[in-house]
Amino acid sequence: MGNFKYYFSILLLTVVLLACKKDPESGVPLSNNEGASEIDNKVAQLLSKMTLEEKIGQMNQYNGFWDVTGPTPESGDAAKKYEHLRKGYVGSMLNVTGVENVRAVQKIAVEETRLGIPLIIGFDVIHGYKTLSPIPLAEAASWDLEAIKKSAEIAALEASAAGINWTFAPMVDISRDARWGRVMEGAGEDTYLGSKIAEARVKGFQGEDLSQPHTIAACAKHWAGYGFAESGKDYNTVDVGTSTLNNIIFPPFKATVDAGVKTFMNSFNELNGIPATGNVWLQRDILKGKWGFDGFVVSDWGSMAEMINHGYARDKKHAAELSALAGSDMDMESYAYVSELANLVKEGKVSEDVIDDAVTRILRVKFELGLFDDPYKYCDLQREKEITGSQEIHDAVLEVAKKSIVLLKNENNILPLKKDGQHIAVIGALADDKTSPLGSWRIGAEDGTAVSVLEGLQQYQGNLITYAKGADVITGEASFPFELTENNTDKSGFNEAVNVAKKADVVIMVLGEHAFHSGEARSRANIGLPGVQQELLEAVYAANKNMVLVLNNGRPLAITWADAHIPAIVEAWQLGTQSGNAIAQVLYGDYNPSGKLPMTFPRSVGQVPIYYNYKNTGRPSANEPNSVFWSHYTDESNAPLYPFGHGLSYTTFSYSNLETKVVGNNQVEVTFTVKNTGKVKGKEVAQLYIRDWFASVTRPVKELKGFELVELAPNETQQITLKLTDKELGFYNNEGEFVVEPGKFSVFVGGSSNTILETDFEL
Ligand code: BGC
Repeated sequence: MGNFKYYFSILLLTVVLLACKKDPESGVPLSNNEGASEIDNKVAQLLSKMTLEEKIGQMNQYNGFWDVTGPTPESGDAAKKYEHLRKGYVGSMLNVTGVENVRAVQKIAVEETRLGIPLIIGFDVIHGYKTLSPIPLAEAASWDLEAIKKSAEIAALEASAAGINWTFAPMVDISRDARWGRVMEGAGEDTYLGSKIAEARVKGFQGEDLSQPHTIAACAKHWAGYGFAESGKDYNTVDVGTSTLNNIIFPPFKATVDAGVKTFMNSFNELNGIPATGNVWLQRDILKGKWGFDGFVVSDWGSMAEMINHGYARDKKHAAELSALAGSDMDMESYAYVSELANLVKEGKVSEDVIDDAVTRILRVKFELGLFDDPYKYCDLQREKEITGSQEIHDAVLEVAKKSIVLLKNENNILPLKKDGQHIAVIGALADDKTSPLGSWRIGAEDGTAVSVLEGLQQYQGNLITYAKGADVITGEASFPFELTENNTDKSGFNEAVNVAKKADVVIMVLGEHAFHSGEARSRANIGLPGVQQELLEAVYAANKNMVLVLNNGRPLAITWADAHIPAIVEAWQLGTQSGNAIAQVLYGDYNPSGKLPMTFPRSVGQVPIYYNYKNTGRPSANEPNSVFWSHYTDESNAPLYPFGHGLSYTTFSYSNLETKVVGNNQVEVTFTVKNTGKVKGKEVAQLYIRDWFASVTRPVKELKGFELVELAPNETQQITLKLTDKELGFYNNEGEFVVEPGKFSVFVGGSSNTILETDFEL
């Protein structure tokens, strides 16, 4: 009889959980997972054994307070967290890394708590763990989806060997604002490219089978609108219209859901007056309702409690209530759930169904990771030793680093450099920097582990290299993540740099941003070269005009003077551990650059936000000479410095024979030919854009809708066929419906968003 009651209650609970798609309190939709899988049954069984406090514990995530010797420090917060861990009131920890540390906390969760539920261990594996790939914005410049996927795979391999099974990546926030420091962490300004990259990165992290020890759960963040912070200031208010939300901001997130992403992170910002963390519409209606996402949502760091500052929650208890009802399943470091949620349930303000739904989602991911089969599967010391920093990982990050470099300008073919008999002056503090190339978001990596540009160049021994620093970028040392950076003002090294330049055949200047000029909370109001670097550039250029400028930076920079004067400019971003080797191979032509900008470079900060897929307006151009009354600046051109999609090669490409053929209902085939018209083999990202001329909601002047990476030998041609379907031809109207509207469309193709060929078709 006892047994029967037990099984009956489990059955009942399972049925209730699966059938109950709306929270009786708020009427909001809960999990819409149809049909119980084996994992769902296991989750339901486990859930039925849990006390309310244990369930809420699963919804609680703590930051690491642990090193190999035990919890640190032994008092205050850490002591409380330790006690909670033992009681089973912690479902996840972040920033606990290394097999020994992870094993120690996991052991408590598994062996000391009543139900032994393993922890899920999260970490910001943003562009690698210890061995770093390029920052994500740089990787996006490769437009190479296979390489991007591989980079995520490699990051998962190294992180999982160090005990981590969940990354807070990819960040799929579209941003059009180079002032925003976190553009370094995303795929740039375009929703189409961003969606493809989002999918590739999720698949790379999660692999085919999440239960394998080398794959980790991914997290699409920050849901939603975070990249549209007003004036590019991090954490700032976001106020965007329906059309931008539906057509620009949402699609990359939707792509991650379609790719099977296991978790989402919400965002710090408010969106049209409602903080994302307490936003029922975003989390319940769109994400879990319309899109059927059955993973879980983690809050951003402290974002539940921050709703008090936003003026949306009265106090922490209210913040917990709003967050839970809105579908924020896990609390990262607000301590709101662990302290308030049980009372809210007892008072009837949050129904236990809401809690059960959240816990079901969290447990499901833990089962899928295989943590219940073996909670220590990511805790193999031998594996950690073998995999961390292995040759395989170094080779992979070098490959993607080369592909991420964008050749912005190359007058008189000053590049590639000759390999022998040259005297090369290398100037700029960043040339000798082994830390900055690691970029921001590199908490697992050690300072000083990147190959510097100087070291990379020194691999080539036929030339004489003389180095002069010229000037520092910042004053003093800065290490992640807390210190502020102060721009250097000391010019005492200028003379030496000028003298070295005078004696050289070619000058390579390595300038740009220190790693911590970009990243979280690193917004900049000025986006030129920081500190005295612009002055250094001009002083050295006056001494020797045969110059290559190599940029290291985490965002588009306004380098209008450099573009007007310096013959060759290479955008080398922050390329990670193998940075210097990748740059040297490109400068010497052992790798022919093929990267294309994923974000528009402005001429001046006043143009920001600037992006290629803008709307036409009612006054797009002057209708008579000297007219004032059209959409423009009186003191700056509307044109960008470098357009989205721009990037040169050591060879050249021509485009011809553009044709379109309507092959079915809302199906158009586009064909064109690309030819390598130069002297060396090279890769080109052939880009396809469309324009929908009239629509019920206005459409941009151009939208990327396809691209292909082709490698061609000199004189070789390739015909490319790309297909436009409903997906590419339609858009979301302001009711949130996806529509394809008949009428005139243009198709453009070329090697950047400044396209070369154009034709029309009618739908
Ligand atoms: C960031 C998140 C990150 C989290 C945990 C927050 O400050 O916004 O993107 O994942 O910290 O480190």
